[in-house]
Amino acid sequence: MSVHGEIKKVTTHTLQWMKQHGEKISMLTAYDFSMARIFDDAGIDVLLVGDSASNVMAGHETTLPITLDQMIYHAQSVVRAVDRCLIVVDLPFGTYQGNSKEALNSSIRIMKEAGAHAIKLEGGEEVVDSIKRIVGAGVPVMGHLGLTPQSIYKFGTYAVRAKEEEEAETLMVNARLLQDAGCFALVLEKIPAALGQRVAKELKIPVIGIGAGMHVDGQVLVMHDMLGITKDFSPRFLRRYLNLYEDIKGATEHYIKDVKSKDFPNEQEQY
Ligand code: KIV
Repeated sequence: MSVHGEIKKVTTHTLQWMKQHGEKISMLTAYDFSMARIFDDAGIDVLLVGDSASNVMAGHETTLPITLDQMIYHAQSVVRAVDRCLIVVDLPFGTYQGNSKEALNSSIRIMKEAGAHAIKLEGGEEVVDSIKRIVGAGVPVMGHLGLTPQSIYKFGTYAVRAKEEEEAETLMVNARLLQDAGCFALVLEKIPAALGQRVAKELKIPVIGIGAGMHVDGQVLVMHDMLGITKDFSPRFLRRYLNLYEDIKGATEHYIKDVKSKDFPNEQEQY
């Protein structure tokens, strides 16, 4: 049986049920009201207000510059649009790494001011205390391992992570630690499919992949990539469902032509 379409509100418990029953979890990023409404109407299970907003909405090279206030603004817009799906919001860089109290305060701001349902943060062992404190306050936490973009200057590259055994073992250890700390789900980004499969098999919580292969419990993509709005980003894991860059550019060129040629507006399009 599939709960897709039958469930009125997706919760962390729904995702757990999906994992147990082999139903894959669908997740996309969203940053604004209009797109979030379409995704929710389409039946998406989870919307992530990702700090990738820093890249695709604000035009920064990395996710590091986006602020907590800016994340809350995006999250508020998404929350206003959604009836059914679970809304998870990224804690941005610099708002949780200091200590667990800072992490809790940032999470509380997201829950109170945006009305989100859960938060996500990046990292393993080093964020365990923070996760325990946030979960202890009643806030569901999603973990994120593998390629963690907030650490891009440490990695030095966006290449696939954990290809070597040592890093793969560390990731395994961290995945267990995050589950034990109380995470309700885990995102794995850009790692070998075999490792994704191993983590998903061992962990009881749902594992959602982006470039982590077919054997994890669900998939997430950045909406601009999935819809083909970004055109210069073509990692192997990306499937484009539309080519909106070309479609929107074409429509804009058409509009410009109609305005210049005085074709728009016509008699029926004026008062
Ligand atoms: O910020 C984001 O979009 C993310 C996804 C890549 C999982 O964290």
